[in-house]
This record gives sequence, structure tokens and C-alpha cells, in this order.
Amino acid sequence: MTTLVTGGAGYVGSHTVVALCATGREVVILDDFSNAKHGVVDALRALTRTQLDVVEADAADRVAIDQICRSRNIDSIIHFAAHKSVPESILEPLRYYRNNLASTLTLAEAALERGIARFVLSSSAVVYGKAAELPVTETSPLAPESPYGATKQMCERILADASADSRLQSVLLRYFNPVGAHPSGDIGEIPLGEPQNLVPVVMEVALGTRSKLQIFGDDYNTPDGTTIRDYIHVMDLAEGHVAALEANLGSHSSRAFNLGTGVGTSVHEVVRAASEVTQREIPFDVVGRRPGDLSESWADCRRAATELGWSAQRELKQMLGDHWRFLRRQSRRVP
Ligand code: WQD
Repeated sequence: MTTLVTGGAGYVGSHTVVALCATGREVVILDDFSNAKHGVVDALRALTRTQLDVVEADAADRVAIDQICRSRNIDSIIHFAAHKSVPESILEPLRYYRNNLASTLTLAEAALERGIARFVLSSSAVVYGKAAELPVTETSPLAPESPYGATKQMCERILADASADSRLQSVLLRYFNPVGAHPSGDIGEIPLGEPQNLVPVVMEVALGTRSKLQIFGDDYNTPDGTTIRDYIHVMDLAEGHVAALEANLGSHSSRAFNLGTGVGTSVHEVVRAASEVTQREIPFDVVGRRPGDLSESWADCRRAATELGWSAQRELKQMLGDHWRFLRRQSRRVP
């Protein structure tokens, strides 16, 4: 049996492909390479020691999807392919709605018509918006504050309704803050353009390709004044997808799960840990708050532990150490 992984050359997608192959599952990658480099496929083939079928196409391309389903016995889909930048979605909302919804609708239609049994959706904790309670549980109200977050909430609803009266079961995985890289250093996050997220920026400062970190506000109502997030190793996330593929959902036709560590970490704590791991100074300036930032967000992951038999295994310093190894390898490759 084979899993179709859309966006499988991307950051979380590529790590999930490695985790899937490690269980002996066959994989077909569909990716348009708009946010991934072709070299990732070579690294994946070497890491998984398998040829890996790769189809370069848009995840909304029904002809390509039908062709894959005709040539391979697809029994499940993991759907990563999506635009995923909060600030970009605010600037270009319709492009986000078109891309993120069209791909999910097309894949859900194909899944129903072909009797595919399991659909795993890459969703995000951004669907919660400013969560009323902490830690955030799966029953926390959904109140996304960006077009990107709204597309994720809509995609979850599309899959829940598609699964309601059919053989299809959908698993909606709400990630918190993915960081880190495969321990080999061969795959990791390759932000196209200027990285916006904290850990890639901190690592660039450690590497010396960026002079300083700007900390967006230290006047939050938190112990050290900086914001708190639930950073999770991308390999833990990947293993969470394998668990989601294989889980017995019982009577649920669709089920959401938080994928986090349950631990909140502040910006200052990330900076201190990164300095220890890299043995480099990480100079910073504190500047004004970034619009839209939440003060605190971390996950209640008990449902995933109980129903998926999954919990995060890797600590912050391992996340940062693996990220650092990958970044240094990438910098040596720069011509
Ligand atoms: C973390 C904290 C910043 C950069 C993002 C996406 C979200 C999701 C997860 C997809 C914040 C602070 C950051 C910097 C800083 N991805 N920071 N200086 O904002 O929690 O969420 O990743 O689903 O869509 O928005 O993560 O890493 O950008 O920021 O002070 O140069 O670090 O203010 O509080 P965030 P982040």
C-alpha cells in the first residue's frame, strides 16, 4: 500500500517521508517545488535508500492526482502542500484561499471517488488564534486571525464533512512551532527568501550571516517579558504523522490532534539555549512588538498521547543542535 504525500519535498513533508519509509511504507511525493528545492529529492532518496516516485505538479491538479492513483495503489493521503506565511496571507488573501482550499477540495474529491481510507491534513495551531485557555486543547474555540489561519480552519471543515458519511477517515494535525532538522544534517528547513521565524533567524546570527536578532517586544505579561511558544522537533512531528496514518480512530470519522511538546519556551530561553548549543554569542536588540504576535501559546497534547500513542520525544537543545548541524552543512554548500 502506498501513501500520497503532497508537499513531500517541503520542510515537514520531507521529514515525514523519511519517517514513513522507515516503517516500510511506500510513498509517492507530489510537489510543485514552489517552496522546495529539487535537491531535497536526491537527499531523500539517499536517506531512505529508496527510489521514491516524485510527481512535479500542483496539488490541485486532478489529472495528475488521478494518474498517480491509477498507477499506484494509494490507500492514504498526507496533505502538506499549502502556502503557510501569516504575513503573506494578509497581503494576498485570495491567493491563499485559492491555493490552500482548491488543493484540499481536489484531493478530498479524489479520495472519496477512489475509496481512499485515510486522509491526514497538515493543519496549524494558528486556527486557535488568541486561545482563551492555556495550554490549548483541541476543544479550544477556533478563532483564526489571518487568512492563512482561516484557510486551515476551512480545510479542516472540508475534510470533516467529506468524512462524515463515507469510508474516509480524516486526521487533522495542528502543529505548534516546528523547528530542527533530521539528525543526518542532510535535510532541514530551507526558507526561500528572508526567514521570519525565530529559530532560523537566531541560527543565522550564530552563523554570522546576520548581525543581530531583533526581539519583537519584551513587555509581555510573561516571566521574562518575551513571548512563549511550544517549539517541537520536526522529526517528532514527522513521527506524529506516521502515528496518525496508522491510528484506530474508533467511531470518529474525523479527529483533530495538537502536535506539540506541552512545554512553553520564551524567546530569551531560545536565545540562551542556542548560544549554548552553537557556542556562539547571539547579540540582539529589543524592538517593538510584531503585529499579530500572541503573548503565549503552548499545547495540551494528551489526546495525541492517548489516541495516537504519540508524544514528542526531543528536547529544545536537540532541536537547536540538529538545526545548527543542517545550517552549517548548507552554508558549506553555498557556491
Ligand atoms: C516566535 C516568537 C516572535 C522572529 C509562526 C507562524 C505560524 C506557524 C508557526 C505555520 C514570536 C518572536 C520571531 C524574530 C522575534 N507556522 N520573534 N524575532 O509567530 O509563533 O508562528 O510559526 O503554521 O503560522 O506564524 O513563530 O518563530 O515567527 O515567532 O522576537 O526575528 O519569536 O515575535 O513571538 P510564530 P515565530
